[in-house]
Amino acid sequence: MPETITITDNRTGDSIEIPIVNNGVSAAEWSKLLPGIWFFDPGFMATAACESAITYLDGEAGILRYRGYPIEQLAEQSTFLEVAYLLLYGELPTKEQFEHWKREITYHTFIHENVRKRFLEGFHYDAHPMGMLVSAVAALSTFYLDAKGIFDHESRQKQIIRLIAKMPTLAAAAHRFSVGMPFVYPDNSLDFTSNFLSMMWKVAEPRFEANPVLARALDILFILHADHEQNCSTTAMRVVGSSHADPYSATAAAAAALYGPRHGGANEQVIKMLMEIGHVDNVPAFIEEVKAGSERLMGFGHRVYKSYDPRAKIIKRTADEVFEVTGKNPLLDIALKLEEIALQDEYFLSRRLYPNVDFYSGLIYQAMGFPLEMFPVLFAIPRTVGWLAHWQELLDQDSKLARPRQVYIGPDARDYVPMSQR
Ligand code: ACO
Repeated sequence: MPETITITDNRTGDSIEIPIVNNGVSAAEWSKLLPGIWFFDPGFMATAACESAITYLDGEAGILRYRGYPIEQLAEQSTFLEVAYLLLYGELPTKEQFEHWKREITYHTFIHENVRKRFLEGFHYDAHPMGMLVSAVAALSTFYLDAKGIFDHESRQKQIIRLIAKMPTLAAAAHRFSVGMPFVYPDNSLDFTSNFLSMMWKVAEPRFEANPVLARALDILFILHADHEQNCSTTAMRVVGSSHADPYSATAAAAAALYGPRHGGANEQVIKMLMEIGHVDNVPAFIEEVKAGSERLMGFGHRVYKSYDPRAKIIKRTADEVFEVTGKNPLLDIALKLEEIALQDEYFLSRRLYPNVDFYSGLIYQAMGFPLEMFPVLFAIPRTVGWLAHWQELLDQDSKLARPRQVYIGPDARDYVPMSQR
């Protein structure tokens, strides 16, 4: 059977045969037959905007792999910093490569004093930490003028390291400011995740010792959130990156896309939903409301996954380990009951609605003491790696400027009417 499709223009009878390559058909070929006729695809539901070798996702089978490695193996055996290297450079690092990488990240965690003093402290006292993060990342472009050299290999690597290293510092600084606590400087003797926890929670102790179970749990959550192929924020990164903007400006755009409740904000919605349900006894009635269409079961369903999100399985296990330390999040029983009922109910089964990554992650963050406003920030820290991996890949591919077409549905040409005659 030929691996091709044939398109016929019924107005003229002309046909064109287009090869199917890697599950894609070239739109450029289509345009040869039909110049000026565009694919109408709002939300890019059926459009592949690039070729990518970073993350493989099969939503039907519930498979997620970074550079070919199953997410389950990485979550179990790897660390966030090692996964970051893998995503960015395509291979797991050797011991030497890893030591160098870890050192580079560790020694770039400090932010310029003016970023903190003039930018972060300039916000209103009740500023949302995610809004502060988006703005602070954009501001970094004004501190690193060499960042414009995006085709200079050395400069590009420097900005990648700076962004990954400074993100937790900015994130923690945004939190500390929003609760009126003094800024905590990075501690270069700590690993990536423990350092972030130190900057978040340190009070008067000379050295903050993160609970190793909690630090490891957060590291696993960072691994699970590091990349997810062409999601909304990564697409924003690629679109802005395609104009050859500097990486700080592109990352700020990606973080802004992540800020929205449809993307990075769903785990917060899950917690709000669980608090609203309030008690396990209220779960059956809530499920009925969801089925009647007056409520939505947050943390369930996914645009791409039509079976159990593989990340949700790992998070559920991690949650048990975290609750052993923090005590059980009282909302857990409600979440478990919701899942139990939904996974047996025809409504959810027939629509292939399963728990996604956000169903349990918020419960873990909450049990660890993070306020709800920090949830999208906690997503942005690891996803910075994915954004940068895609940005780098895009620049190496000699890609085109992102500039889609439209289907125009406005008025035809008409003459200007002076205001006095309207
Ligand atoms: N609760 C109840 N019904 C749902 C849910 C849900 N969470 N999700 C989908 N459905 C129903 C829809 O009502 C629709 O039913 P219908 O065919 O009778 O009209 C059917 O399932 C298909 O749903 P769509 O909205 O067409 O699916 P889509 O792929 O557009 O939506 C989305 C995916 C937005 C994630 C959706 O499932 C949802 O809103 N889930 C809750 C929010 C959430 O958890 N988002 C996080 C996603 S993971 C992430 O971004 C990190």
